[in-house]
Amino acid sequence: MANVTVVDHPLVQHKLSIMRNRETSTGGFRRLLREISLLLGYEVTRDLELTTMRIETPIEPMDAPTLEGKKLVFASVLRAGNGLLEGLLDLVPAARVAHVGLYRDHDTLQAVEYFFKAPTDLHDRLVIVVDPMLATANSAIMAIDKLKERGATNLRFLCLLAAPEGIKRFTEAHPDVPVFTAAIDRQLNELGYIIPGLGDAGDRMYGTK
Ligand code: PRP
Ligand code: URA
Repeated sequence: MANVTVVDHPLVQHKLSIMRNRETSTGGFRRLLREISLLLGYEVTRDLELTTMRIETPIEPMDAPTLEGKKLVFASVLRAGNGLLEGLLDLVPAARVAHVGLYRDHDTLQAVEYFFKAPTDLHDRLVIVVDPMLATANSAIMAIDKLKERGATNLRFLCLLAAPEGIKRFTEAHPDVPVFTAAIDRQLNELGYIIPGLGDAGDRMYGTK
């Protein structure tokens, strides 16, 4: 599928299966999401450009590879995006962070915005938007809309689970934004949940209902 990367690493798939299990505890779910974010983060940053920096090792000088350009931005779609964000910040501690507060109206499935805070100079940074779930894609599309309105031009979307319907809508709305996901499930059910899925990611992370 154009512009969609499925990160089907065995460790990712193993951890995802445990997360899907309804018997997995809140603490276990959070820990696994953080662990998976490290593996997904490896893939989503695989082609970052490098430059070199002159350093001296204890033995001799060298031109050592180092990340080029401005610090990247992780944009977390609240609440569940924070589960991916934490691990990604372990990988890239100097990254800037944007928060996009959205909730999905249970009846209409439309995304409703309640918070937005982002660095001001988004235009010259890579922005990696993170949210574990891409279901109808209403939330992801709105999050990217808002970030583009604030000047972002170079974006990627990272999730854990996607529905085919969401992938289709998202890639039609934002064909310039590559999608990275650990799995694409069968479909959405009549309530807009991904099936087989893992349930409500935010509720499972935080023990809410
Ligand atoms: C979940 C999830 C996504 C959204 C996906 O968030 O984290 O943001 O639903 O669904 P969509 O693709 O149909 O928009 P939710 O609205 O439940 O908020 P939460 O993270 O605060 O639980
Ligand atoms: N949001 C979730 O957290 N889970 C789904 O299955 C769909 C939307």
